[in-house]
Amino acid sequence: MNPEKSPETAQLIYGGKTYELPVVEGAEGERAVDISRLRKESGLITLDTGYGNTGACKSAITFIDGEKGILRYRGYPIEDLAEHSTFLEVAWLLLYGELPARGELDTFLEEITQHTMLHEDYRRFFGFMPKSAHPMPVAAAAVAALSTFYREADTEDRIYRAVVRLLAKMPTIATYAYKHSIGQPPMYPRNDLDYASNFLYMMFGTPCEEYSVDPVIARALDLLLILHADHEQNCSTSTVRLVGSSLSSLYATIASGISALWGPLHGGANQKVIEMLERIALEEGSADLFLERAKSKGDTTRLMGFGHRVYKSYDPRAAILKETCKEVILAVGGSSRLLEIAMRLEEVALSDDYFVSRRLYPNVDFYSGVIYQAIGIPVNMFTVMFTMGRLPGWIAQWIEMRNDPAFRIGRPRQIYTGPQERPYVPREER
Ligand code: SDX
Repeated sequence: MNPEKSPETAQLIYGGKTYELPVVEGAEGERAVDISRLRKESGLITLDTGYGNTGACKSAITFIDGEKGILRYRGYPIEDLAEHSTFLEVAWLLLYGELPARGELDTFLEEITQHTMLHEDYRRFFGFMPKSAHPMPVAAAAVAALSTFYREADTEDRIYRAVVRLLAKMPTIATYAYKHSIGQPPMYPRNDLDYASNFLYMMFGTPCEEYSVDPVIARALDLLLILHADHEQNCSTSTVRLVGSSLSSLYATIASGISALWGPLHGGANQKVIEMLERIALEEGSADLFLERAKSKGDTTRLMGFGHRVYKSYDPRAAILKETCKEVILAVGGSSRLLEIAMRLEEVALSDDYFVSRRLYPNVDFYSGVIYQAIGIPVNMFTVMFTMGRLPGWIAQWIEMRNDPAFRIGRPRQIYTGPQERPYVPREER
């Protein structure tokens, strides 16, 4: 809040009366009309389908300026964190508001290392899942099932333990789901590897041969996790806040966030982007045809990985990922075909009035899939990677909501458009 600014008000004139509504101002000067008392005083509610103009909360975690393409976690620019930090250091920053001191980070890393294993009963849990299952519902179910193994996170100490368990076990759950889907035995986590390296080991290692982690790939993966760690009140985070506001289990609440993220308009877009690029690669020269379809009103085709509810300029995460693509492909010697198609699509779209006039730019999903594919992650695991990255953001937003003095269960209103009262007519008389 901007303390030196006196609170202004907004006036609403309705039914011959003038209502004074307080205006609140955020730390970066953004303003909102506080309508908390609107219904009580005027009988009016507001309507904003999709919440595009509605602030659900005050938050000190992430700041986005969609006009300027700014993203900061707790005030630190995403570009600085991407260059200098690590995923678990960023997780601590999001959760507790400050970068950890060396001792704090060492303890946090050690505790996470000591909690990476899953209860052996999870083998039976995964064993019941069809091998063809998409790993997102498997991950959501496995995370919800954590609430059957561990006590509720209802005290400071239990919340911290749940934070450690979720961050520690998410990579193990993700790789268990993957290994099950390809009929291979899961790999147990190792305590001598860092977070990203452990994931790669569990993902690509087998009991039959030694797997050595490529440090370039591990660093690229850690960077991808940083870039996905939080993004203010997006669809899945808003889901976590709403489900968490009923005081449901933190594990079940995170599982709801995973389910929301799965959607192709949200985190599921990264999978759709690669499928789109591969289709264009197969059907030579269809980039321009694809863009025509994405522009046409009657066609539901969208240029996946483009457009954003908040960013009306280049998503800063996409800019970082575009550069990282080139580094990873160079390092692993992979094909740059999909990257070239993506860059061509971006070039054509950003010179086409349809996209320019609607301020549609590449978002975080446009290039992330190219990297995941270059490091060997299968396409149906892309959104699970997004889940691993977003996990600390979801938890941080859940903690902030629970600690908010204005905390109450979320319960939006509606405008009813159905039939008015009518008597029941027995079946024989209809
Ligand atoms: C994420 O919210 C977050 O922060 C999300 C996220 C995070 O970190 O949590 O950033 C991650 O979800 C990124 C977005 C991933 N989704 C996609 O890439 C799917 C493709 N993009 C769109 O479907 C769309 O842009 C959304 C869903 C991202 C945003 O939708 P909005 O804000 O509701 O915008 P809209 O659908 O009202 O579009 C406005 C106009 C429409 O045309 P008109 O009705 O004005 O004629 O732009 C068009 C849309 O048809 N449009 C597109 C388009 N995106 C919007 N047309 C073609 N291709 C697209 N990608």
